[in-house]
This record gives sequence, C-alpha cells and structure tokens, in this order.
Amino acid sequence: MPDFSEKLKSYTEYFNHELPHFFPFPSGAEKRVVEAMLYSVANGGKRLRPFLVSETAALFGIPQQQSLPTAAALEFLHSYSLIHDDLPAMDNDDLRRGKPTCHKQFDEATAILAGDGLLTYAFEILSDSPTASSPSTRCALISLLAKAAGAFSGMIAGQMLDLSSADNLSSSEQEFLIKHIEEMKTGCLLRYACEAGAVLGNASDEQKQALITYSRKIGIAFQITDDILDVEGNPALVGKTLNKDAAQGKMTFVGLYGLEKAKQIARQLIEEAKTSISVFGSKNQTLKDLADFIISRNK
Ligand code: IPE
Ligand code: IPE
Ligand code: MG
Ligand code: MG
Ligand code: MG
Repeated sequence: MPDFSEKLKSYTEYFNHELPHFFPFPSGAEKRVVEAMLYSVANGGKRLRPFLVSETAALFGIPQQQSLPTAAALEFLHSYSLIHDDLPAMDNDDLRRGKPTCHKQFDEATAILAGDGLLTYAFEILSDSPTASSPSTRCALISLLAKAAGAFSGMIAGQMLDLSSADNLSSSEQEFLIKHIEEMKTGCLLRYACEAGAVLGNASDEQKQALITYSRKIGIAFQITDDILDVEGNPALVGKTLNKDAAQGKMTFVGLYGLEKAKQIARQLIEEAKTSISVFGSKNQTLKDLADFIISRNK
C-alpha cells in the first residue's frame, strides 16, 4: 500500500498532467489573461483541495477521472482566491508558491482579471456535462460552491473579516472571531471539497454529515497551521514571504495564544476530525492520514 505522501504526490502528478487540457488559448491580445490564469494555477501548489474531492468521492466508488472536473473547478477557484489575496490592496505579497505573485509577474489589472477569469471558469466547468451526467447533480455542485465561495457566509465573508482589527475585543471575543474567520476564509473551500465528493457519490445524510463535521475541523486546523508556518516555516519550502501576519496585525491563534497553544488547538481539532468519520470504517484511512498531514506539513 502506498503511504499518504506517495498518494498525494501521485494525485498531484495526475492533476498537473491533466491541467493543460482545461486551458484552450485564445490567439488575440486577450490571451494575456489566460496566460496569467495558467501561470497561477500551474505554479505548484499542494493540490490538497482537488485531492480531497477525489478521495471523498472515492469513498463511494467514484474513480478519479470522474471527479476531476469538480476537483479542477475547486482548485481554480482556490487559485483565484490566492491571486486576489496577494494583491497590494489585500495582503500585498510578492511571493506565492515560490514564484512572483500574479500581479508581480504580470501587472495588477491582469491579476484582477485572471482571478475573475478563474472564478468564472470554475462555474463554467461545473455546469458542463463531463462534471456529472445528471443536471440536478451539477446544479447542486454549483449551488454549494457559490455558497462556499460567497460573501454571505463563505470565503469572501472570511476575507472581509480578515481585514478587520481586534482592537477593543476581549480575548474570548477574539477567540470566537478568529475561529469564525478561519472557518469562512479557509474552511469553506475545504468543506466544499468534502460536500462535492458526497454529492458525486450520492452519500446518505449520515455520511454527508460526518464529512461536513470532518471538513469543518480540518479547515480550522489548516489555517492555524498556515499561521504557524508564517512564523516558523522554512521560507524555501513554504514559498511565501514569512512573518507577515504579525506585521499586518492579522488575528490568529498564534498571535493570541502563542505557538504552543495554537499547535495544541490544531492537534485537538485533527483528533476530533478523525473520530468524526468512523462511519466509513476502514475506508476512511486516507482521510485520516490527510487530517494528520494538515498539521504535520512543512509547506
Ligand atoms: C493557502 O492554501 C491559502 C490558505 C487558505 C491558507 P494552500 O496552503 O493550500 O496553498 P497551495 O494551494 O498549496 O499553494
Ligand atoms: C488565505 O489566508 C485565505 C484565502 C482565502 C486566500 P492567508 O492570507 O493567510 O493565506 P496565505 O498565507 O497568503 O497563503
Ligand atoms: Mg489573507
Ligand atoms: Mg495572504
Ligand atoms: Mg497565511
């Protein structure tokens, strides 16, 4: 049996190999925006979200090529969120996945359009028949992604709150707010990965609920680990400029409680996540390993 890191590596190779098929190139001057989209998507990345779609769908016997369009749509939407997150008006980052951010490599206007292009393309892919033969399945995938990425209680809402400040908040108010921000800005897309796998696999309500509980816990733990890596990661591996959260006054558990307590909170969430998927019996091993990877990763 291949171990978890081999499985993720092999999925990443498969995904990267399939990637160019999603990018037909226009020939005119507008091709610059497609170049910027592909630059940002092809530019490395752990591919954890598409892998999670694939592994969740696999619980129900769905082969990886069948879940690929959904997985790609999610990864493209995630890449859009990174392009916009890095813009000067937001986190103002120069480095992403070890390379210049989209607005540094191209220019700010092109980066905004590349993000818009990836966001829109995600929904185009989900609406196409290769994603799922049943129109109602495709409709469910579209609706869930719109909510997960959206401004009401999705990723955009989390990104909005991420720009706010903790001034005048007690520490318990801050703890509540940080969890809320993490769950929205990061957790919602990881939750979508699991919900999409469940939709593709026609999961029962009990199975769906177990996957949602799992994904909510790994989502928060994922962002806590991102915040820990911002402080003690190896810049060559992380591929981002480090020590930015404190400098930009971001609300994180690392800032509120320090590294050790932040790690302990993340570990606890991962243990709870693993327990929550016991309904799948021994088929849940890869999802358990994925949960462990979320807090042990070095990039
Ligand atoms: C980074 O996500 C943004 C967060 C939500 C913390 P990843 O750490 O999954 O980034 P890539 O896709 O591997 O580059
Ligand atoms: C990212 O949070 C959340 C997104 C929705 C993009 P961060 O701002 O901490 O992510 P990085 O550290 O830039 O990848
Ligand atoms: Mg940010
Ligand atoms: Mg950022
Ligand atoms: Mg970060």
